Amino acid sequence: MSLAHLKSLIRTIPDFPKAGIRFRDVSSLLVDAAGFAEAVERMASIAPQDIDLVAGIEARGFIFAGAIAGKIDAGVLMVRKGGKLPGPAMGRDYALEYGEDRLEIHDGQIPAGSRVLLVDDLIATGGTALTSCRLIEDAGAEVAGAVFLIDLPDLGGAQRLRDSGLDTHALLT
Ligand code: PRP
Ligand code: ADE
Repeated sequence: MSLAHLKSLIRTIPDFPKAGIRFRDVSSLLVDAAGFAEAVERMASIAPQDIDLVAGIEARGFIFAGAIAGKIDAGVLMVRKGGKLPGPAMGRDYALEYGEDRLEIHDGQIPAGSRVLLVDDLIATGGTALTSCRLIEDAGAEVAGAVFLIDLPDLGGAQRLRDSGLDTHALLT
C-alpha cells in the first residue's frame, strides 16, 4: 500500500477540540485492517534496532506501541495521563497544542540499561513527546529514538526532538 493511500485513510475533523484546530483522526485508519497493518509494519521498519521497551503515550499511542512491540519483540511501557497509574509513579506537567496535561510512568519498571523507543500516533508541538523523553530519562533509561505515524511540521515538534538529539521518524506529514 502506498503512503498516499495510507494518508488518505486518516480523516480531518475541523474545529476539534477547539475552533481552528484541524484534528487528524486516526480512528478512520484503525478500522481499516490493511491500513492499520501497513502503518504498524512501516513504523516498526523505520525504528532503531535493539529496542527493549516501546513507550506508548496515552491514548492513541498505546495502540501503535503495542502493535509495534509485538513485531520487534519488545515490552510496552505505558506513559499515562496524570492520576491513572495504580502504583507509585513519577510525573511531569506539559503544555499541549490545545491545553495542559500531566504524564506519568510507574516507578521501577524500566530495567537498567534499557533502550526505549517512544511511539505515538502524532507529533504536533512536541510537548508530549519531549515530556515523555524526560520522564524516561528521569527513570535512568536511554530513549533510543521516536516513531510517529503523523508529523505536523508547521508546529515544529519533530524538529524540537531532533534538535534535542533524538533519532526521530515520522511516516506521514
Ligand atoms: C495527541 C497526540 C499526541 C499529542 C501531540 O494526544 O496523540 O499524544 O496530542 O501533541 P503535541 O506534540 O503538541 O504535544 P492527546 O493529548 O490529544 O491525547 P489522546 O491520545 O488521549 O487523544
Ligand atoms: N494532537 C495535537 N494536535 C493534534 C491534531 N491537530 N490532530 C490530532 N491530534 C493532535
